[in-house]
Amino acid sequence: MKINGTPYRTIWPAPAGQAIEIIDQTRLPHEFVTVRLETMEEAAHAIMEMLVRGAPLIGATAAYGMALAMNDDASDSGLESAFATLVETRPTAINLRWALDRMQAHLKPVHPGMRPEAAWAEAAAIADEDVAINAAIGRNGLKLIEQAWEAKGRQGCVNILTHCNAGWLATVDWGTAIAPIYAAHDAGIPVHVWVDETRPRNQGASLTAWELKSHGVPHKVIVDNAGGHYMQHGMVDLCIVGTDRTTARGDVCNKIGTYLKALAAFDNKVPFYVALPSPTIDWRIQDGVAEIPIEERGAEEVSHLQGRTASGEILKVQVTPLGSPVANPAFDVTPARLVTALITEKGVCAASPEGLKSLFPDR
Ligand code: MRU
Repeated sequence: MKINGTPYRTIWPAPAGQAIEIIDQTRLPHEFVTVRLETMEEAAHAIMEMLVRGAPLIGATAAYGMALAMNDDASDSGLESAFATLVETRPTAINLRWALDRMQAHLKPVHPGMRPEAAWAEAAAIADEDVAINAAIGRNGLKLIEQAWEAKGRQGCVNILTHCNAGWLATVDWGTAIAPIYAAHDAGIPVHVWVDETRPRNQGASLTAWELKSHGVPHKVIVDNAGGHYMQHGMVDLCIVGTDRTTARGDVCNKIGTYLKALAAFDNKVPFYVALPSPTIDWRIQDGVAEIPIEERGAEEVSHLQGRTASGEILKVQVTPLGSPVANPAFDVTPARLVTALITEKGVCAASPEGLKSLFPDR
């Protein structure tokens, strides 16, 4: 996607090689800052502290993290120790383990002397594939938005609600849930996006709104509790969200609050779509509620809010009473029965074992 006319991805190898560059997402929307990562430890830190975030981008960063590790120590023990460090950085998004498994399987049979070169090439392949997958998700999801537009008699606009940030910032490029929205907007379909603010870290208010504004897509930021109200009043035609892990039977784990939106959509007969690249599917598990580890993040994300003052200063302020304990589960699971359909790079399918098997018969 372009920022002020310059095309960007969210992660790229530094021009002189041996390092990667990322957009520091903790500084958005107020400042656009890129950061150079030169070691595997710096890549791990960027994932843990959420300079990069979003399931597909976490996977791509971990892959480049392995490449950085190979620069320092390409022995078998170097490979194993990089894997062990990176896999612990965020527990819920399965793309992390998928990318690390792929890097390890690719590098193990390679002679240590050749591993750095092989690692950089494989990480670049993972990043490029993510871009192609998300472009295909955009094309497949576009058909659903076109249908909604036809169903409205091509009157007004298609109102779409999304939660968290599953746009290009959450991936290497294009996004998952937002890719169909960009495709529809670029195809001339009038879309309007309800952007859940997505407490506690406000990925909707800070990142999704910034992306949509940059691309000229009409949108409004709403508080997390407003979605059900707009659905009851016929002001949401469909929801599209992303996912950090999807089970083999179609349960989806996504940013905390997604489940409540799915319940409201179900009650109001609003289609609830989940967009996902196939590396987000965890084929080993069925029951998302029982089997997906939910990341518990730090208390300060709940007790404090960060923002910009009128004079341009970035400040963090406390919103809870001093000493009040908080809890901060970062994700929740939406059961497959509440999901209208899954949008993948291979097409659209039912959120069910049969639906997923129809698109991925080899799994
Ligand atoms: O905690 P985050 O910001 O990494 O959470 C991101 C999400 O929940 C996204 O919706 C999900 O990763 C899908 S992104 C393509």
